[in-house]
Parts: sequence; structure tokens; C-alpha cells
Amino acid sequence: ARIVVLASGAGSLLYSLLDAARTDGYPAQIVAVGVDRVCAAQEHADVAGVSQFKVALRDYADRGEWDRALTEAVAKHEPDLIVTAGFMKILGTAFLERFGGRIINTHPALLPSFPGAHAVPDALAYGVKVTGSTVHLVDGGVDTGPILAQEPVPVLDDDDEAALHERIKVVERRLLVDVVAAVATRGVVSDGRKAVIPSDRT
Ligand code: GRF
Repeated sequence: ARIVVLASGAGSLLYSLLDAARTDGYPAQIVAVGVDRVCAAQEHADVAGVSQFKVALRDYADRGEWDRALTEAVAKHEPDLIVTAGFMKILGTAFLERFGGRIINTHPALLPSFPGAHAVPDALAYGVKVTGSTVHLVDGGVDTGPILAQEPVPVLDDDDEAALHERIKVVERRLLVDVVAAVATRGVVSDGRKAVIPSDRT
């Protein structure tokens, strides 16, 4: 399967996908990396020799223009799947119309708990003992799409945000790579709320 990955930050999740895609037998290849700003994720794409593009909101008259430009930039690579890996923008209607049902996101909390851009500090502030990683399909909301996979991560008493986020990222990297491979191989059936990856009853 052809995958375009969208990122905005350190790109450690992108790195894990690039690493997995390099191994024989992984059922997907990263055909391009898209960013919305200058970020470390671009370096991972460079090192991996994967083409990349930047579509920054400030270069467009408004969010609608940006959304259409991003949609076109992604469509050029004819992806089967899009993965948002730390992409810090809400995808617009043009993008969702074009790629809806084929966009996979990862979120560093057990949705529906702690949606939004501050999931890790929110979980710490709340005092939960367990948080985790969620991989889900992207719909029109913020972190509200049908859930594909989740895995718990313990919160330790002396955790700060960095320690907890890194412990979550270790899980995320594996979970995202596994879910992308499963969806690439077996697709996903979702009836709006529930999403199921058909098990490979061979
Ligand atoms: C990940 O924790 C992801 O769940 C969240 O942003 C972080 C991205 O990390 N949305 P990186 O940029 O891939 O290192």
C-alpha cells in the first residue's frame, strides 16, 4: 500500500514507519512525507530518501485554501492510506472528502479521554494512574474518529510530561506500525462509530 505521512514535530513516529517500511515484507511503503511547518520530521524523510512537501497555513489566504492545497499535494502521490503522525492541524472538508475513511491518526491518550493537543499534560494534571495510546480513523472532529487499536501505559508517581510522553511514544511507535500494516493488508470496516480490521482467518 502507498502511504503518505503527515507530521509537524520531532517525527519519531514517522521514523518508526520509515524504519518498518524498509524491512522486507512490510505491506506498505511511505511514498511521501508532508509537513505544515519546518520540523525535524523533514530530516527523517531526507535521510530515508523519501520525497517531501510543505504546505504551511501562513502561505495561504485562509484555511480553506490551505486545506485544498494540502489535499492536492497529497493526492499527487496517489496514496492508499494517509497517516497523521504528530500532525498538529485539523484536516478540512476538502481533505476529508477526498481521503475520508483512509486517514489513520495516533493520539497519546486512551480516547475519548484527553482529546486535543495537550493529552499528556492533561492526563498528568488529572492524576490518572493509567493512560495510553490510541490509533483511530480521522473523521471531521478532533480525535473523535472510530478507534482501531488502544494500549494502556502506566503513569508513575514521579512522571513529568516528558517521561510520560516518551513512555507512551514507545507504545505508539509499535502500535501504529502494526495497525498500518494490518489496515494495508486487510482493510478496515467501519460503520461510523465502530471500526474493525477483519482478522486474517486464513
Ligand atoms: C505523538 O505522541 C502523537 O501521538 C502526538 O504527537 C506526538 C508526535 O510525536 N499527536 P513525533 O513528532 O512523531 O515524535
